[in-house]
Amino acid sequence: MGTVEDLKPIFSPKSIAVIGASRSPMKIGYEILQNILVQGYTGKVYPINPETPMIMGLKTQPSVLAVKDDIDLAIIAVPAEFVPKVMTECAKKKVKGVIVISSGFGETGEKGKLLEEEVLQIARKGGMRLIGPNTLGYKDPIDNLDAAFVFGMPRPGEIALISQSGALCIGMIYYANGEHIGLSRVISVGNKADVDDADLIDYLDNDPSTKVIAMYIEGIKDGKKFLDSARRCQKPIVAIKAGRTPAGSAAASTHTGSLSGSDAVYDSAFKQVHIQRAYDVIELFDFARALAYQPPTLSNKVGIISNGGGAGIMIADWCESIGLKVPNLAKKTVEALLPHLPSITTARNPLDVAGDARFHRYHATGSIMLSDPNVDALIMTCVHAGIARPREYVGAVIKLVEEKRNLKKPIVACWVGGPEVDEVVQELRVKNIPVYPSAMRAAKAVRSLYDEGRRLEILTKKRQPKDNSSN
Ligand code: ACO
Repeated sequence: MGTVEDLKPIFSPKSIAVIGASRSPMKIGYEILQNILVQGYTGKVYPINPETPMIMGLKTQPSVLAVKDDIDLAIIAVPAEFVPKVMTECAKKKVKGVIVISSGFGETGEKGKLLEEEVLQIARKGGMRLIGPNTLGYKDPIDNLDAAFVFGMPRPGEIALISQSGALCIGMIYYANGEHIGLSRVISVGNKADVDDADLIDYLDNDPSTKVIAMYIEGIKDGKKFLDSARRCQKPIVAIKAGRTPAGSAAASTHTGSLSGSDAVYDSAFKQVHIQRAYDVIELFDFARALAYQPPTLSNKVGIISNGGGAGIMIADWCESIGLKVPNLAKKTVEALLPHLPSITTARNPLDVAGDARFHRYHATGSIMLSDPNVDALIMTCVHAGIARPREYVGAVIKLVEEKRNLKKPIVACWVGGPEVDEVVQELRVKNIPVYPSAMRAAKAVRSLYDEGRRLEILTKKRQPKDNSSN
């Protein structure tokens, strides 16, 4: 069986045993069972606890061995020292996959490493794939399965999130929810004793619900396997690699037992396989959101429209400083723009449509810019000047995105104004139109789309048959 088939019982289980399901609402084993039930999982659920006959109205069993039906997935939440025993029972029961939530393994030192190795060998001998140990579990908002502790689900969407940190993973879910960014699968990988990033990249590359893979990584054990999977992957990957500095690296080794390795080596390896590197959570989602919902750009030539000169100038600066170009407009474009502009503005790129612009000027100039052969991506920015019509600009951006899809030129928005603009731009977020609160973030998002365009171009060239005409 390949990785994708191996992981199906874990991610699409027909039955789940929660080993260590607890009577106490304060315990993790209680929360996992509760979360599975709250989301309305339709498969069979077996709470395993030798101390009590019933939890949350479900009959418990003292061990997985007492369950009559087959079990696809066992989620284990008993103290680390008991994990080998319950894993051995899972192997005997022919459970297909396990998630070990428990901490107290490789991340704690030599003794923990030995325990982790013991657990891994039990999984291997029993033919079970293993996620963890030291993991939060996973949350699947597409199929409504919450196989994790900590309450709350992501919004459904098209970005898969793999995180080596459990707590940060929860923070990222809440951040994405607040930004109206939808996720397809959220997987906490913990110590990665068995299932690692490479396996999950393979799995998610085959997942029809996922368009982009976003990752938080502390360390990678098998570099070659990881690079092979990333190279094979058809979908864009954006990754944070933490533990870049001596202080971060030391913290990573006690968090998930990871060896962070040389940052320069990671950087060049990521470049080789076209993984886009993000340096914090906000950047991770800035890129992922653009990649999921806008087409990649075919060149680095960006058109900019603003209703205030400063905002356009800042975007132009950011574009040019990160390898994008702000080209001159074609003569035909300039001529087409002129009738739409007041005499105080010049038909150029970046284009300042002036503070008194209304829907029509914003929309018409956007449409003309997108027709320019020198422009392959558009950033539309707005500042809330006294007479500006921010709601009308939002409407113009939405209309343009809808009308111009077939051009395959990305459009991103940039709204500067802090909390005052939040409610106004919510409409863009809801429609999955990337909107950023600063020139830097908008420009970097377009750079991410340009990098994706180049990745696809290289992949296409590699796939084209060699030209034999010279033979
Ligand atoms: N089979 C089934 N149930 C059992 C067994 C067994 N062999 N042995 C004990 N149980 C029951 C217990 O009776 C208890 O139920 P009860 O509360 O109804 O009595 C339940 O299982 C839990 O056992 P406890 O001994 O009470 O363990 P506790 O819940 O305190 O801790 C836990 C277990 C949560 C796994 C803990 O050891 C742990 O590792 N906590 C940290 C988890 C974590 O943070 N994971 C990683 C996060 S992600 C990251 O950041 C990398």
